[in-house]
Amino acid sequence: MKNLSASPHPLLLLFLTILTLRCLKDASAACHADDEAALLGFKSAITADPSGLLASWKSGTDCCSWAGVTCLVNNRVTALSLSGQPEKPNSFLSGTISPSLAKLTFLDGLYLQNLRHLSGPFPGLLFQLPNLKFVYIENNRLSGRIPETIGNLTRLGALSLFGNRFTGPIPSSISQLTQLTQLNLGKNLLTGSIPNGLKNLKNLTLLGLDQNQLSGPIPEIFGGSFSDLRILRLSHNKFSGKIPNSISTLAPKLAFLELDHNLLSGKIPDFLGKFKALDTLFLSHNSLSGTVPKSFSNLTKIFNLDLSHNNLSDPFPVMNVKGIESLDLSYNNFHLGTIPKWVTSSPIIFSLKLAKCGIKMRFEDWKPSETYFYDFIDLSENEISGSPIGLLNKTDYLVGFWASGNGLRFNLESLRIVKTLEYLDLSKNLVFGKVPKAVSGLKSLNLSYNHLCGAIPPTKFPDSAFLGNDCLCGPPLPPCKV
Ligand SMILES: *[C@@H]1O[C@H](CO)[C@@H](O)[C@H](O)[C@H]1NC(C)=O
Ligand SMILES: *[C@@H]1O[C@H](CO)[C@@H](O)[C@H](O)[C@H]1NC(C)=O
Ligand SMILES: *[C@@H]1O[C@H](CO)[C@@H](O)[C@H](O)[C@H]1NC(C)=O
Ligand SMILES: *[C@@H]1O[C@H](CO)[C@@H](O)[C@H](O)[C@H]1NC(C)=O
Ligand SMILES: *[C@@H]1O[C@H](CO)[C@@H](O)[C@H](O)[C@H]1NC(C)=O
Ligand SMILES: *[C@@H]1O[C@H](CO)[C@@H](O)[C@H](O)[C@H]1NC(C)=O
Repeated sequence: MKNLSASPHPLLLLFLTILTLRCLKDASAACHADDEAALLGFKSAITADPSGLLASWKSGTDCCSWAGVTCLVNNRVTALSLSGQPEKPNSFLSGTISPSLAKLTFLDGLYLQNLRHLSGPFPGLLFQLPNLKFVYIENNRLSGRIPETIGNLTRLGALSLFGNRFTGPIPSSISQLTQLTQLNLGKNLLTGSIPNGLKNLKNLTLLGLDQNQLSGPIPEIFGGSFSDLRILRLSHNKFSGKIPNSISTLAPKLAFLELDHNLLSGKIPDFLGKFKALDTLFLSHNSLSGTVPKSFSNLTKIFNLDLSHNNLSDPFPVMNVKGIESLDLSYNNFHLGTIPKWVTSSPIIFSLKLAKCGIKMRFEDWKPSETYFYDFIDLSENEISGSPIGLLNKTDYLVGFWASGNGLRFNLESLRIVKTLEYLDLSKNLVFGKVPKAVSGLKSLNLSYNHLCGAIPPTKFPDSAFLGNDCLCGPPLPPCKV
């Protein structure tokens, strides 16, 4: 440098000036030193990053250009968004969330999703970020309690801790987070009951508390508030008592109501028929009894209805739905007699489960108007006779067919086994013929208690998949006689 400045050539001077200007411009574009330090601190608490999610995070380079970093206001970091890819086994981060992130004073959104091995307690640094509005720390391994001080985060517009290992109760101070439009604490290990104060969170569009160990009745928190709630997920807990009346106030907008896998009892309330926007209703695996309200015929927009594994009884209302996508009424006290017309006429159905629904018909008499989308058909434990061969010949993408415990009589060798098929259960029927080789590619198979005969082709299935036939032989059954 000394040599250069000692012999100033006009062109060189120009060149140096341009160079200096460039450097200055770059310096102004680079992120703030506090932000860089905060992010490098985060990186240093990461102990494994096999897919290189943080590979671009290098000291001395502009941190606003690092993967997952967004700078908006005056080149200050406003969002940190790191997401693993669930389908790639090495797409994860191990380690903890460094408290150094508290230096990101302009941070508005923190998104740490599907990183799987990120562990440690609830990150206390969230309390030190004055501009933080959106927190999505999902599908990681954070544990311990959600602190009672969470009520301090009053600016939050969305909070999701879905898919971690938080234990203990939902802090009652959560009722102070009145700006929340989304609260998702699903898939953790939370216990205790739903705090009554949740009724203060009037701006919620999504409330997810599913897949925890919450118990007690579902409190009457919905009346008068929650006018924008679209998604209510309380599935897979231990909630008991009745479906609360105040849910009726959600009628105008609620699209997803998921209360399945709980201990709910009593009747399905009439008012559910007024839920004009209802897309998905899951009430399965409870102890609901009585009839399904007639008002259900007004659920014209419902796509997914699962009422299976309850104690519901006849008559089932005729639905005026244009097209249902998935229906499960299995294992109740229904005697449907036949597969309802509103199901058969659906142009978009992919999953039909009517096990033990008192269906008495010939399979050939079921002529669905569309078979193209069918993935799953479960008609187990009915009184269906005849043969499914014609229908299965038309379902090109079928994944599972369950028809155990009927009176189906057909030659198994004529059954088309499509490439997509994974599950086939024809046990306890009157199926005859030989076992075709093509079954060996299935994930699960049950042909027990039929009239099959001959040598079993090589498969990985246990003997219970073949027992009780007329003359099947060879592994896993005793050898064939020569
Ligand atoms: C939460 O707020 C209370 C009262 O304003 C304060 O005393 C406490 O230190 C705060 N806690 C955290 C973790 O910021
Ligand atoms: C919450 O709802 C109220 C009333 O509907 C509205 O004035 C306010 O802007 C909403 N807040 C947010 C954060 O959406
Ligand atoms: C369906 O809705 C209409 C209009 O809201 C109402 O008059 C009718 O009684 C409802 N049907 C049933 C079976 O509840
Ligand atoms: C199911 O409902 C019937 C009446 O429809 C009742 O007799 C029976 O006890 C109920 N079963 C259970 C397990 O609740
Ligand atoms: C299955 O469909 C094919 C044409 O797609 C037809 O040739 C065949 O006869 C059908 N088999 C049965 C058993 O219906
Ligand atoms: C096959 O079905 C029979 C009768 O339903 C059952 O006992 C057996 O456990 C089943 N085996 C397999 C492998 O699913």
